[in-house]
Amino acid sequence: MNKALRKTVIAGNWKMNKTPSEAAALIEEIKPLVKGADCEVVVCVPFVDLHVAIEAVKESNIKVGAQNCHFERSGAFTGEISPVMLKEMGVEYVIIGHSERRTYFGETDVTVNKRTLAALNEGLKVILCVGEYLEQREQGITEELVAMQTKIALQNVTEEQLKNVIIAYEPVWAIGTGKTATAEQANEVNGIIRATIEKLYGKAAADGITIQYGGSMNAANATELLAQPHVDGGLIGGASLKAQDFAAIVKAASV
Ligand code: PGA
Repeated sequence: MNKALRKTVIAGNWKMNKTPSEAAALIEEIKPLVKGADCEVVVCVPFVDLHVAIEAVKESNIKVGAQNCHFERSGAFTGEISPVMLKEMGVEYVIIGHSERRTYFGETDVTVNKRTLAALNEGLKVILCVGEYLEQREQGITEELVAMQTKIALQNVTEEQLKNVIIAYEPVWAIGTGKTATAEQANEVNGIIRATIEKLYGKAAADGITIQYGGSMNAANATELLAQPHVDGGLIGGASLKAQDFAAIVKAASV
């Protein structure tokens, strides 16, 4: 497996944090700190911050993402946002299937697949999240579960479309808990995801796909995690809200 074949992507997942004015200020703070980074830098902001974020990142190396999208283009889905709307705004990335969406908002593997297809069909890049609960890890089913989540999410996604997919392995027990997976655990599961991609799409696709780790990644542990052969970046929650910490992770990914 050759790491040089794939792009390293550091994406901030701001979750439900920052008003539009706060978002603009944070991006202004991040911009000079990540300038010239040797990896892709993305900030995934709340829907209402997308407009100011897209303005703020102009003439910088930062890309903007949303944190979810619906699977229909338009219609009677009160409170939802469609991929067409995101695309027209100039949004480039969208997180799909984050564990908080699965846990609190009833997302299933099937709706994750529908949202993934809809986003890809609209030309968005998808950061697809998979990962196990602590109980599932203890039951010894992480491998099967993550492979299954990956397979279902990618149903009917073509090999061409897969080029616009990043997979984020996020063990649920590590998200927002300060309990990071060890570098070995992250590498092992990312490797399982890559093997799943190889079975579905072949070796070239498996070698080319970016697989991130997410879950309490921070300035202190990023270097070790990112040094793993199967870890091609990070999806960063808490630490992405502090410009210096986020920039330190970007720097760790840029070597
Ligand atoms: P965390 O969140 O870095 O705060 O653990 C990661 C995520 O949920 O994407």
